[in-house]
Amino acid sequence: MDQKLHNLKTQAWAQINSADSVAELEQLRINYLGRNGELNKIAEDLKNLDSNQKALVGRIFNDTKNALENLILEKIQEIRGEEKKGWFDPTVPGIEPILGNLHLVTQAIEEISGIFQKIGFVRVRYPEVEWDWFAFEALNMPKDHPARDEWETFFVDHPEDKKYGKMVLTPHTSSGQPREMQRVKVPPIRMINIAKCYRRQSDNTHVPMFHQFEGLVIDKGINITHLKGTIDFFAKQFYGEKAVSRIRPFHFMFTEPSFEVDFSCVHCDGKGCRFCKSGWHEVGGAGMVHPNVLKAGGIDPTEYSGFAFGWGVERAQLLKPGIEIDDLRTLYSTDLRHLRQF
Ligand code: PHE
Repeated sequence: MDQKLHNLKTQAWAQINSADSVAELEQLRINYLGRNGELNKIAEDLKNLDSNQKALVGRIFNDTKNALENLILEKIQEIRGEEKKGWFDPTVPGIEPILGNLHLVTQAIEEISGIFQKIGFVRVRYPEVEWDWFAFEALNMPKDHPARDEWETFFVDHPEDKKYGKMVLTPHTSSGQPREMQRVKVPPIRMINIAKCYRRQSDNTHVPMFHQFEGLVIDKGINITHLKGTIDFFAKQFYGEKAVSRIRPFHFMFTEPSFEVDFSCVHCDGKGCRFCKSGWHEVGGAGMVHPNVLKAGGIDPTEYSGFAFGWGVERAQLLKPGIEIDDLRTLYSTDLRHLRQF
């Protein structure tokens, strides 16, 4: 295979050197380095090598690729220089290339997945366009139940399914709970589902498309202490050693008991400041999975129990120090001056 690479390099080298127009060079670039180019064809063979050989040939492969890329660039510059018939002033300062960066939300998603992976959660992702059944009915929210109003749902113009009902844009990652139960079938389940959610809302602290991360743990003997321990672990990892969490009684149809979860304010360590007022920030909901939800997912509630939590990614991230954004909507604007800061 390295012989093949060598031959290819020699042949490409000769053709590039004898090219005399930019168009010709662009064509050579496509032929050799393009997605369906000669080099990628050879790369296919890399897969069949054992790992020692792979490392060695892989290096030769990359060197060849870089060498050809550079040669083409050099040649293009040379031709352009001649075309202009100008002179090249090497003292003119270069144009600094713009470096991209990951979006704030992507950064948060990566960090959150990493934290939960450390304690054995499996990252999954479930459909954004979802059936009513997964988003509501399996979560103990029967048709027309007023509790559903909270979720300000977008409905998709699509024929209803006999079993699964209407099609919706999933309003929360909890729809991943019954999906994960059906996928795994037999617990233990340790899921972290991070996905886009949609609700009819738009103001300083809400956007119609946002992200949630949903944890679901099901096994024998799971109780509230496991939930509290997991939440505290996350608080310390995400907001720093001093952070703590608290849970307050609340109500959701799909958990019993249910809680709202707060994290201590990172600006004042929970003492109370202009930013938090009370010392705490609410981030989302949690609770022990309702037996009806386990049943809907095909899991026997007399044998297994579990906890779940679901929080907003944007909200969790904006509570970090150094990120003061008054209007959540700016996160999804195309104003690069804003986005480049992070
Ligand atoms: N899905 C709920 C929401 O969007 C949050 C939640 C998740 C509550 C899991 C309890 C358990 O508000």
